[in-house]
Amino acid sequence: MQYERKNISAMQGYVSGEQPERPDIIKLNTNENPYPPGPAVARALAAISVDQLRRYPPPTALALRKSLAALHQVEVDNLLVTNGGDELLRLLLATFVEPGQSIAVADPSYSLYEVLAAAHGAEVQRIPLTPDWSLPASFAAQLNASGASLCFVVNPHAPSGSLTPAATLRQLAQEFRGVLVIDEAYVDFVDPALGHDCVPLIRDCDNVVLLRTFSKGYSLAGLRMAYGIGARTLIDPMQYKTKDSYNTDFIAQTLAHAAIADHAYAAATWRRVREERARIREQLHQRGLASPMSQSNFLLATVPAPHSAQTLYEGLKNVGILVRHFRIPGIDDKLRITIGTPEENDRLLTELDRLL
Ligand SMILES: Cc1ncc(COP(=O)(O)O)c(C=O)c1O
Repeated sequence: MQYERKNISAMQGYVSGEQPERPDIIKLNTNENPYPPGPAVARALAAISVDQLRRYPPPTALALRKSLAALHQVEVDNLLVTNGGDELLRLLLATFVEPGQSIAVADPSYSLYEVLAAAHGAEVQRIPLTPDWSLPASFAAQLNASGASLCFVVNPHAPSGSLTPAATLRQLAQEFRGVLVIDEAYVDFVDPALGHDCVPLIRDCDNVVLLRTFSKGYSLAGLRMAYGIGARTLIDPMQYKTKDSYNTDFIAQTLAHAAIADHAYAAATWRRVREERARIREQLHQRGLASPMSQSNFLLATVPAPHSAQTLYEGLKNVGILVRHFRIPGIDDKLRITIGTPEENDRLLTELDRLL
């Protein structure tokens, strides 16, 4: 007997980056923050007593939403806390896309969008980015012509790290006749000198949801905490209808709250990542591995002939350094390299010199 729904049996699952158990592996493959969570988070964890787990957690993470509302200068009702950004993506599909309808993605981007769409039974319209990883000028027109009811745009872009200005996204939101999800998983690493800020869009555009996560900027990928910011008309149906009743647990809410309260600690790690990003980009360039300017915590480096990205990936893996190689046309000659600590990055450069 076949019990799976037809679309589930036909689809491919998401392939995560390798998560090795050996602690001596240099992990530059899944864009984690190279620095640990701050001391405030450690203290909050140590202060949790086991008796606090007897009760259910606050269902909508109200205390955390209040501190996020103060941080972003929005109302608590503009915020939905989720079990990782991945849960928010799933909720967006469940809430705003009829099975059989289309969603659109700027291509290439985070491959989970398509996996979740396939599980939901939605069609995917891929709209190619330009060669420099920007949205084409006709993006909104293509979206509307595709009939998509929701579009995922990751900004800064993954896997290139390029940044689309907020003004461009505002115009896109105004023209698109559907829900525009701006996935800001990596926005914490944007150079503050650029003054980039998409939060004002949610006040003026009732079709925009921003995705933020604690996984990257706050060094809490293991906690599975993220949030959406949007107009109340978009947030409410997810908050009160489609999310699980207790979707985030007590420990995760408590630690995320501590991380936000000590925002300055996290911001200091972002500055260190930005400094290393500039250094490593230059060093890779000197070795013939060009990468576009990145506003994220990774670089997308093109591997020069006669070398191949696959052999370089394997060569690095053999010496205990994991980077990401996607066997996807258009990016299969590139490696996505997460920015590590200065020591990790130096090891990477030394091994690259040996392999090249
Ligand atoms: C572009 C993008 N969006 C969203 C996520 C989701 O992150 P998380 O579920 O850890 O919050 C990731 C994680 O790698 C990502 O790369």
